[in-house]
Amino acid sequence: MSSPMDRKQEQREAAHPVDPASGPLTTDQGVAVDHTDDSLTVGERGPTLMEDFHFREKLTHFDHERIPERVVHARGAGAYGYFEPYESCAEFTRAAFLQDPSVRTPVFVRFSTVQGPRGSADTVRDVRGFATKFYTSEGNYDLVGNNFPVFFIQDGIKFPDFVHAVKPEPHNDIPTGASAHDTLWDFVSLQPETLHAIMWLMSDRAIPRSYRMMQGFGVHTFRFVTADGRGTFVKFHWKPKLGTHSLVWDEAQECQGRDPDFNRRDLWDAIEAGEFPEWELGVQLVPEEDEFAFDFDLLDPTKIIPEEQVPVRPIGRMVLDRNPENFFAETEQVAFHTANVVPGIDFTNDPLLQARNFSYLDTQLIRLGGPNFSQLPVNRPVAPVRTNHRDGYHQSAIHRGTNYFPNSLGGGCPAHAGVDPHAYTHLAERVDGAKIRRRSESFKDHHSQPAMFWNSMAPWEKQHIVAAFRFELGKVGALSVRARTVEQLAKVDPELAAEVAKGIGVPVPSDAEPVAYKLTSPALSLEAQRGPGS
Ligand code: HEM
Repeated sequence: MSSPMDRKQEQREAAHPVDPASGPLTTDQGVAVDHTDDSLTVGERGPTLMEDFHFREKLTHFDHERIPERVVHARGAGAYGYFEPYESCAEFTRAAFLQDPSVRTPVFVRFSTVQGPRGSADTVRDVRGFATKFYTSEGNYDLVGNNFPVFFIQDGIKFPDFVHAVKPEPHNDIPTGASAHDTLWDFVSLQPETLHAIMWLMSDRAIPRSYRMMQGFGVHTFRFVTADGRGTFVKFHWKPKLGTHSLVWDEAQECQGRDPDFNRRDLWDAIEAGEFPEWELGVQLVPEEDEFAFDFDLLDPTKIIPEEQVPVRPIGRMVLDRNPENFFAETEQVAFHTANVVPGIDFTNDPLLQARNFSYLDTQLIRLGGPNFSQLPVNRPVAPVRTNHRDGYHQSAIHRGTNYFPNSLGGGCPAHAGVDPHAYTHLAERVDGAKIRRRSESFKDHHSQPAMFWNSMAPWEKQHIVAAFRFELGKVGALSVRARTVEQLAKVDPELAAEVAKGIGVPVPSDAEPVAYKLTSPALSLEAQRGPGS
C-alpha cells in the first residue's frame, strides 16, 4: 500500500481538471465555445439574447464565486508538509502518527489573523491562528491552535459576546485591523478573565515578524491515551526552528501600508525558495493523578503550566515544503475542527474546548455549503472512509448498496470495528455532579498569571506593553472604560497600571502607585522615555 504522503499527493493530483491547454474553451457541459468576448445579440447594437447559454452560464458562475468568510480567522495562508516523530510515544499515546520515526505523516497548516476580514492587512496587533491537519493512517487529526498559550475567556458560551466586542462596531463597521475600540475594552474591563491573554495581546507576540518565526499552542489541556486505556494530560507546543521574532510597532504599521500581505508573502516566498520552515512539536505531560497538583485548574484555558513546573518535551518535527496550488480550493476550503481526533488523543472537560467541539462543524456546514466538505481534496483523509452518510449538497461520491445499521442484507454497509485496535474509544472518565450553571471556584484567579507574564518581561518588553496599552486604550472614547481597565491592571501590577494611567489621562488607582520602581535602568525607564506633554 502507498504511504500516507503518497496518498495525499494522489488525491490532489486526481482533483485536477482536464489540462486547460489541451483543447478549446468549453462550457460546464463540455461543449466547445466559439467565442467568449461578445454576447449573442439581435443585430450589431441590439439586446442580448436569453438563449446565449454560454453568456448566462459564465455570468451565473461568476455571480456565485464567493462563499462566506470564516466568522473569525478569515484571513490566512496555508502550506503542505510533513510531520515525523523523533521516537515512539507509545508510553503515553497510541496515536499512530506518534509511533514510528520512519513514517512521515502529511500535514496542511493554515496560519491566520483572527479579527480582520479576508482582505485586511497581515501585520495588525492580533492573535495568530496556527491550525494543523495531520492526515494520519488512522484518520485526520486537527490541532487547531494559536500563537498565544492562553485564551481570552474560560467558557465557550461567552465566545459570541467576546467576538462581537472584538469585531468592528455594528453601526459603522469601524475599525478594522487594530483592536483599539471601546467595545473590546469595555468587555475586557468587565471580564477580568481576559487579562492574561490581553497581556499577550499588548506584547510583541501579537505582531509576529513571520509565520515561520511564530510559536503555536494547543492552549487547552488535552489527553493522551495509551493502548491499554491510560490517560495523561497533555499541552501541545510548536517551537519554530528559526526562533520566535516579532516586529516592533512602527515596523508593523509601515508593513501594513507598504505590503498588506507581508506575512503571507514571506511564507510563500520562503517555500518557493526551498527555505522550508520547520517547527518542533513539544508536549507538557501531567499524570492523571496530578490533576489537582497546581494552584490553577488544568481545565482553565486562561492558564499556562509554567515550564519550570512541567518542562516541554520535544516529540517530533514538522516541515512545510509545498505551497498550495489554488488558494480557494485549499486554503479557503480547508476545514479544521477540534473534534477531529484520532485514537490516542482525547478531550478534557475544559468548557472552552467543549464549546469548540460543537462550533467548528456547525459553522462549516454553512461556510462550505452542506455536509459533504470532507470530500474536498484538502479535507479528505488518507485513511479509508466508510460511512452510512448519504446525499446532501455537493455529494460527489457514488455510493453503492444499503446504508443502515444493523443490516442483515449486506450490500455495502460497513460493520462496526468493535474491539479493532484502530477503532476510536473515548477515555472512560468518571464524572459526577448536579446540573449547575456556575463556574468552579478553581477558575477564579485572574491576576496571578498575568502578573507572572509581566514580571517575566525584560524592561524594553515592558515598555512595549505599556506603549501598546496607551495606544489602544488612549483611543477609547469612554473614560469610564479606560479607568476600569486600569483598575484591573492595578491588580496585575501597580507599576503597569500607573504607567498606563499616566499616558491615557485617567487617575492612577490609589493602590496602584508603584512601591518600588522596577524598571531599574534609567535609560530604559518609562519615565525617561515619556516626552514633554505626553
Ligand atoms: C476558527 C470558533 C476558540 C483557534 C474558528 C471558527 C469558528 C471558531 C466558528 C471558523 C471556522 C471555520 O469557518 O472553518 C471558536 C469558538 C471558540 C474558539 C466557539 C471558543 C469557544 C479558539 C481557540 C483557539 C482557536 C481557544 C486556539 C487555541 C482557531 C483557529 C481557527 C479558528 C486557528 C482558524 C482555522 C483555520 O485556519 O481555518 N473558531 N473558536 N479558536 N479558531 Fe476558533
